[in-house]
Amino acid sequence: MTQTTPDATSTELLHAADPADAPWWRDAVIYQIYPRSWADSDGDGIGDLPGITARLPYLRDLGVDAIWLSPFYVSPMNDAGYDVADYRDIDPVFGSLSDADLLISTAHGLGLKVLVDLVPNHSSSEHEWFKAALAAGPGSPERARYIFREGKGPGGEEPPNNWPSVFGGEGWTRVTEADGTPGEWYLHIFDTTQPDYDWNNPEVGDEFASILEFWCDRGVDGFRVDVAHGLVKEDGLPDWHGPIQLLDASDMSAEAALPPSHEESARIHETGAGPRPPMWDQDGVHDIYRRWRAVLDAQPAPDRILCAEAWVKPESRLAKYVRSDEMHQAFNFDFLDTHWAAGPLRESITTSFRENDNVGAPTTWVLSNHDVVRHASRLGLDQSLPRPNGISADRAQPDAELGLRRARAATMLMLGLPGSSYVYQGEELGLPESTDMPHEFRQDPTFHRTEGKEIGRDGCRVPIPWVRDAPSLGFGPSDATWLPQPDSYGAYAVDQQAGVEGSTLELYRSLLATRRADRMGLGSASWHPLSGGDVVAVVNASGDGARQTLVLVNLGADAVALPEGATVTHASGPLAEDGMVPTDVAVWARL
Ligand code: NOJ
Ligand code: MG
Repeated sequence: MTQTTPDATSTELLHAADPADAPWWRDAVIYQIYPRSWADSDGDGIGDLPGITARLPYLRDLGVDAIWLSPFYVSPMNDAGYDVADYRDIDPVFGSLSDADLLISTAHGLGLKVLVDLVPNHSSSEHEWFKAALAAGPGSPERARYIFREGKGPGGEEPPNNWPSVFGGEGWTRVTEADGTPGEWYLHIFDTTQPDYDWNNPEVGDEFASILEFWCDRGVDGFRVDVAHGLVKEDGLPDWHGPIQLLDASDMSAEAALPPSHEESARIHETGAGPRPPMWDQDGVHDIYRRWRAVLDAQPAPDRILCAEAWVKPESRLAKYVRSDEMHQAFNFDFLDTHWAAGPLRESITTSFRENDNVGAPTTWVLSNHDVVRHASRLGLDQSLPRPNGISADRAQPDAELGLRRARAATMLMLGLPGSSYVYQGEELGLPESTDMPHEFRQDPTFHRTEGKEIGRDGCRVPIPWVRDAPSLGFGPSDATWLPQPDSYGAYAVDQQAGVEGSTLELYRSLLATRRADRMGLGSASWHPLSGGDVVAVVNASGDGARQTLVLVNLGADAVALPEGATVTHASGPLAEDGMVPTDVAVWARL
């Protein structure tokens, strides 16, 4: 192995440093709390806001900058709260508005910013607007807030087009009109109980501007925007036979996975846009985000942010969501979806910096969330296969040890890169997916709508283990948990890892402390000469070049020698006796 003396000027600059006074969100580490599963205060087996508030000091000590809360609004919970019945109130299962106020003020007191989830593509069918739409009948202004259409065929018996639901089955449901006759159909890209809004109707836009203001007034620091690429549908709602690409190709129902028709291929060819389904990433969405940006910028404290959940490819199209007058951030799902292979990881990193820098936005990094198999398990699966939508006992099981080894290395890469990172609750414990949950516990509508063909997302949503020898592993005061905790979870509990050298929790704490102290999130990035083959090696340097940190991951079979004089500050696993970096291990080293 050739050793190269590091020389920042000889390497290709991937990304220039940010100024030291950059706004908080350019380098924030944001911790996702899934409220149902983080901490339960009242023993009903469902996590809640008082539970979260009580444990916020844990996050201050972990060293994150902000939290993002998945939805806590009034909801019948058919999609775990992503089916909102009232955007201005808290579901009683989670608490009350005053609990939310206390959570926000407590977080602020601990130096943590708070992002909430905004779900603007659809409401719950229990929302007052949808109930009014059903009651008011065809042609009414109430129906015009949603996408109601006549059916096709004799008697309107067939749905208006062939769009599937992301969760499986048809994307349309027919209603029964007040006189008892079968009536119009409404579009729901997700569950039947999640009717899509019609964003061509100005009333919808006004309502969401007002919802943004409502939560800004309550002190939140920003919004994670659900299905940000879905709000506007192509005019005429044309049929589509291609993949629907939400949560990526492996997540869709089998029926939807047909190749594009001839006409569709021609259209794709003509527009040069790549396969862009008519329900996603229509140009009209950008007008919506410009308006929202203006709403946020008009607030007394104009440092609140919007982060897009947009499963959009290629990254140049995703970058449009974070142009300077639109959102601030977008989740980097390309990075999340990249297999454990050095070449693709380098490519994802290069493209992410290039496209975001083009529009002046910070790049984000993310490895896990409440919709995907946890990365400690995902990376222990066969990397030549697409990411599965959930794992059950009768399917290929991950290699837990390998998965965790790689997950720790992947995290070190993620946190070593400049930009903003998202950490999903439990990943700081190295928590694996629940892979053997009995089907009778499953709640994800995907599992039910596909009759079990898709396992769905329950496995990454299991309540967090805090204390090994306590009821519900310390999640709450009782034994109750809304999803069962696997036997293996006790060993990952916070009390088993806190203060234990080498534990995943201490690794995260130490990485976050160094990242903050060295302001690595604002650093520049260049390829180190060791990068290539099975090695990903980035130099993260401070703006003045005084600090240079090598972030290196070895994904190959042979151990890698570090450059002479490099001082290792962190390693995701033991190094070889001669200091070489073994397979699937990452290091941070000062140059
Ligand atoms: C994306 C969310 O992350 C997911 O959990 C939800 O099911 C869909 N959007 C629909 O709101
Ligand atoms: Mg509770």
